Amino acid sequence: MCGLCYIPGFGNECASEDPRCPGALPEGQNNPQVCPYNLYAEQLSGSAFTCPRSTNKRSWLYRILPSVCHKPFESIDQGHVTHNWDEVDPDPNQLRWKPFEIPKASQKKVDFVSGLHTLCGAGDIRSNNGLAIHIFLCNTSMGNRCFYNSDGDFLIVPQKGKLLIYTEFGKMLVQPNEICVIQRGMRFSIDVFEETRGYILEVYGVHFELPDLGPIGANGLANPRDFLIPVAWYEDRQVPGGYTVINKYQGKLFAAKQNVSPFNVVAWHGNYTPYKYNLENFMVINSVAFDHADPSIFTVLTAKSVRPGVAVADFVIFPPRWGVADKTFRPPYYHRNCMSEFMGLIKGHYEAKQGEFLPGGGSLHSSMTPHGPDADCFEKASKAKLAPERIADGTMAFMFESSLSMAVTKWGLKSSSCLDENYYKCWEPLKSHFTPDSRKPAGPN
Ligand SMILES: [Fe+2]
Repeated sequence: MCGLCYIPGFGNECASEDPRCPGALPEGQNNPQVCPYNLYAEQLSGSAFTCPRSTNKRSWLYRILPSVCHKPFESIDQGHVTHNWDEVDPDPNQLRWKPFEIPKASQKKVDFVSGLHTLCGAGDIRSNNGLAIHIFLCNTSMGNRCFYNSDGDFLIVPQKGKLLIYTEFGKMLVQPNEICVIQRGMRFSIDVFEETRGYILEVYGVHFELPDLGPIGANGLANPRDFLIPVAWYEDRQVPGGYTVINKYQGKLFAAKQNVSPFNVVAWHGNYTPYKYNLENFMVINSVAFDHADPSIFTVLTAKSVRPGVAVADFVIFPPRWGVADKTFRPPYYHRNCMSEFMGLIKGHYEAKQGEFLPGGGSLHSSMTPHGPDADCFEKASKAKLAPERIADGTMAFMFESSLSMAVTKWGLKSSSCLDENYYKCWEPLKSHFTPDSRKPAGPN
């Protein structure tokens, strides 16, 4: 597909020019009196000017018209987007959702923005601290509409249907089993090709980073070179009927009209860009002796809080891998966690649940809410012969894990009609195997 080239690397200082305009980047300075090709220079700041170099993020965009050329923003229908965490009373139960239903294009045309549904979240947008988890359910391309988020970054996980994403930095094709991050303020428009569904982790006021590797060393988990940044691409397109720019600002949606496509950036340079990543490239590190490493070993990206080691949100995956641990109950352990764990499934099935946790659905195990393998899984894994075996082939489950205690929205609990009221029953058949007179384990070991 034309224009779909990428620059590899994570967080690097990059420079890109649309090949139709060689030399579009000014030499030796950012803001010449007159830019090459008579473009406008515009800086997009993703961090405070004064952040230390390690966290300072900004890009310079050289564009046909500056972003400021638009009519005033006006409030529009909020649809199912919310940041009201008090819509319904808190619910500490284990929650599981059946696959969220995608509207049929034949019944109602819904694009990425009108198909955004906030499922849960916590924190405060105005103080730049918190997160939201959204589900997108759409069937139509955005056409002459783009979106930007003043509140935070979107980590987008397509589950069904590919996304062709036009951004101010160029185009990205993002397919299921890939993810992308579109950072705060970046304008984008999404083309879809079928009934399309996915998950979004939004973090307020912080950016995603690669996790530190500690004793793992210099390589492993998500390697920086596997992240891909789009290359500059522009269209000089007049839209006499009006192009609509939609903005999420302080949790509410606003729209403004302008006469041109916003994808009019001929060249850019900087370290504040959108990017994508193929989850197949994740280098899994895991136990090769006995017991489990904690699931943090599967962290792809983290959005750190100001407390050392504590994330606003982590993006964690459970990729195909070998299970080789000896004398070990291999599925995930029973667990209560101060962190909140939202799980989704891109494809296949999840190893700890045999039943109704399906692609396009989800589960939420909130702060200190117990969870773990269902009864079936426990019985089988307790008796299984521990030969090396492939785990999770053909599947990809993931987790959005947060240190914040999340509220579920009214849509999540009620109007989506996807909540599985019977989830708790998967643990009901668990029975005591306690043998007070014998210490000898009952299993095959
Ligand atoms: Fe857990």
